[in-house]
Amino acid sequence: MASLRACFTVILMILISSSLSQAHPGNFFDWGEGGGSTGEYFGLFPEFYQYACPQVNDIVMSVLEKAIAEEARLAASLLRLHFHDCFVQGCDASILLDDSEDIASEKNSNPNKNSVRGFEVIDEIKAKLEEACPQTVSCADILALVARGSTVLSGGPSWELPLGRRDSKTASLTVSNRDIPPPNATLENLITLFKQQGLDEVDLVALSGGHTIGVARCVTFRQRLYNQNGNDQPDETLERSFYYGLTSICPKSGGDNNISPLDFTSPAKFDNTYFKLILWGKGLLNSDEVLLTGNGFNTMDLVRSYAEDEELFFNQFAKSMVKMGNISPLIGYNGDVRKDCRRVN
Ligand code: HEM
Repeated sequence: MASLRACFTVILMILISSSLSQAHPGNFFDWGEGGGSTGEYFGLFPEFYQYACPQVNDIVMSVLEKAIAEEARLAASLLRLHFHDCFVQGCDASILLDDSEDIASEKNSNPNKNSVRGFEVIDEIKAKLEEACPQTVSCADILALVARGSTVLSGGPSWELPLGRRDSKTASLTVSNRDIPPPNATLENLITLFKQQGLDEVDLVALSGGHTIGVARCVTFRQRLYNQNGNDQPDETLERSFYYGLTSICPKSGGDNNISPLDFTSPAKFDNTYFKLILWGKGLLNSDEVLLTGNGFNTMDLVRSYAEDEELFFNQFAKSMVKMGNISPLIGYNGDVRKDCRRVN
């Protein structure tokens, strides 16, 4: 009787979320800002797998723990995957689709090529989930769970995570090239690209704090070292010793794939040093630096606040991750739950 009731509850929740999704198409990214009760999220809710796959987070975390213990950088790479997924047709796991007859994979876009990684970890989680709860947990939700798990395992905050995203049947190489912000973006570019996704300046600064872990390739910050403004001069906001250190990793030509930590003091620890480094002229990417020195917006004050108060940063990062995770999800009868995250069913 109890299980019958549970089953009925799940079906009811799915039907409610499905009719809401049809009533308000494409309007989901503004919801859940307060990050609290289930009712705020409409389409997505934290208890989505409570009956259908209660062990989902345990399975995700057990694979993640092992993977990150073997290679700490994977936490960073996996956090980034969720961001690059959500900015292209919403959080629908489109980034995980491989090239095929019908799919031009987003993995080959400029921001992703030779850069995004961690797909084998997602495959392993998906395989374990298919064994435990066949065709139940979407790849898009796996990406959201993995982003949270990676943050937590690196020492960062946790958050209540709305679930119930479904997987796309399409990908967009074009949108991936167009909508993911480039490292040499101006503050205005960044704000525009985030706004387009329903994210504001506070979200931009807090989420950029994801650069407290992981690395970047020389090709993404070379311009700052040798020709920032088209006059063969370095970016004058770079602190001197930091600048010299970077030139030894990243020569004027060649070495495109040499890497440098985004937060060189603690590249595997999720903390607020990223913001302190920006204040000291030691932010790695132009997009990091302009949060402090870009004109016309209040991002500078936010960088200072997060550098001073780690808890403030953690709380806002958690809220902004929920907001980013709510960008145009497929829910109800839209999309699919893929059996293999790399292919449509
Ligand atoms: C604000 C606009 C952003 C820009 C322009 C940007 C750009 C970049 C670039 C160029 C890299 C290095 C990629 C490479 O060298 O292959 C990178 C790495 C990374 N980004 Fe961002 N990013 C932004 C926002 C975000 C957000 C919102 C998150 C997550 C919340 C994030 C998380 C990361 C992480 C964790 C890495 C390191 C990945 C690794 O080590 O594999 N970034 N980002």
